[in-house]
Amino acid sequence: MYILGISCYYHDSAAALLHDGRIVAAAQEERFTRVKHDQDFPKNAIRYCLREAGITIDDVDYVGFYDKPLIKFERILYTYLATFPRSFPSFIKAVPLWLRKKMWIPHIIKSELGYEGEVLMIEHHMSHAASTFLVSPFEEAAIVTVDGVGEWATSTIGKGQGSEITLYKETRFPHSLGLLYSAFTYYLGFKVNSAEYKVMGLAPYGEPKYYDKVLELIRFDEDGSFRMNMKYFAYDYGLTMTNGNFEKLFGQPVRKPESKIEQFHKDVAMSVQKVTEDIVLRMTRHAHELSGSKNLCMAGGVALNCVANGRVLREGPFEDIFVQPAAGDAGGAVGVAAYLYHTVLGKPREYVWEHAYLGPSYSTDDIRKYLEASGARYTELGEDDLLERTAGAIRDQKVVGWFQGRMEFGPRALGNRSILADARNPANKDVVNLKIKFRESFRPFAPSVLEERAGDWFELDCPSPYMLLVAQVRENKRTIPSVTHVDGSARIQTVDRKSNPLYYDLIKRFERQTDCPVIINTSFNVRGEPIVCTPHDAYLCFMRTHMDVLVMDRFFLVKEDQKPLEEDVDWQSLFELD
Ligand SMILES: [Fe+2]
Repeated sequence: MYILGISCYYHDSAAALLHDGRIVAAAQEERFTRVKHDQDFPKNAIRYCLREAGITIDDVDYVGFYDKPLIKFERILYTYLATFPRSFPSFIKAVPLWLRKKMWIPHIIKSELGYEGEVLMIEHHMSHAASTFLVSPFEEAAIVTVDGVGEWATSTIGKGQGSEITLYKETRFPHSLGLLYSAFTYYLGFKVNSAEYKVMGLAPYGEPKYYDKVLELIRFDEDGSFRMNMKYFAYDYGLTMTNGNFEKLFGQPVRKPESKIEQFHKDVAMSVQKVTEDIVLRMTRHAHELSGSKNLCMAGGVALNCVANGRVLREGPFEDIFVQPAAGDAGGAVGVAAYLYHTVLGKPREYVWEHAYLGPSYSTDDIRKYLEASGARYTELGEDDLLERTAGAIRDQKVVGWFQGRMEFGPRALGNRSILADARNPANKDVVNLKIKFRESFRPFAPSVLEERAGDWFELDCPSPYMLLVAQVRENKRTIPSVTHVDGSARIQTVDRKSNPLYYDLIKRFERQTDCPVIINTSFNVRGEPIVCTPHDAYLCFMRTHMDVLVMDRFFLVKEDQKPLEEDVDWQSLFELD
């Protein structure tokens, strides 16, 4: 039985295809259209999923959609009415899209795909809950979902048991931890729904000096329930996240994007980060009390806050935590499909989501043909030579584009569409940030580490395959400065051989050459660009930047050997800054 799950029209549109409960393919639309966070109907992602499975839309038994648009529309109308006339400009902007597209989703799905069957919709936070629990290794678990907003809910606490999910409690719009974080993202001059991770990255440079001021904005109780003081926010009626009261409270205007980041901004980032962590920690403790479970499943955009996740793991009551790699809205496509299969149709759970490599791959022949056609100069190598030369290039301080197998699903590159470099070299933080990714240099990179070595290098005693946990670098291993944050922490990816043998073997080879089982892993793209999907995307990114080496499948390309690209566009203008 094939079930197609779709999430779209908010941000990070995606499609996922399940065959008898197993994910056979999943991808975000942005990777195909090259528009970051593309929110349009994911027709390219759907087409890809069907192609990967070798089926047509006629073979799909059910299609699921990850939220209930009519209830969402009701919330939007209700909110506009409650805040009228201040809401009028925002109303005028939002409503046409609703009338044209968002209200007609089953209709659009049927007409875009030529699909004749039923389209089932479930609530947004149920999609989040299902996207983590139903594909987790747990028979039963507490569930916590936290995001900006779905229909009305902005966070839920529940329990999963077998194929059933019960949501005990929810927080409703406008009270939203995700929107609070986004409001600070906006205030700090970063792009909302896109650059929240920069606030998290900035936080360790600051002190939580404004913690009490953040508590003016949001009050929370010991059980993690919270209420916001809407006097400071504009997202419920306006076109911005915050209003003048917010600026008055903090004593400074909204930071202009790309302007200098002052100590003030770092302290504000740390303050909101701390409050977020304190609330998430209390919510998860309460989920433990309500569910009585020692396992926790988390999802929703806030579950991508890996610093908070690290604290839940260390300070919370749970023995085991599961967060899947596409914990934000893209993962809702898996959630709704899994919910239809297990909860609605009552099929038993046999599948556990074990890796993120669910996107397109390209055959050796296809890549060879592409390289030939584009006039690239390359060497074709056997696997052993490929590993030896690539590890050697990283050791020799080259920056390497690494393109292998199936593309990752979710926001992180996890060793198939990655840029790799030597974590021991302190200069690499700036080299890769400025010369390759063209982005602000305050953020360190994430390390990939061999799973069995993770405990030697980091204060971490469980796998973190999706870079969703932050832990301290061990005191005696502070030899990897370009992946160590100013507070001594790192956002870790543990790599095991079963999920990615080639990437594992590469790091192993690097360890053999250097005694260091850790390398820099950052996503294969430039700032504002979605992660590369095709060989063409990868080659362009390699040629446009100062990357030294490109390793694509078994092909090894050195920058100095290549003819310069002949482009008549200013490629940097193609990608909007995030
Ligand atoms: Fe969400």
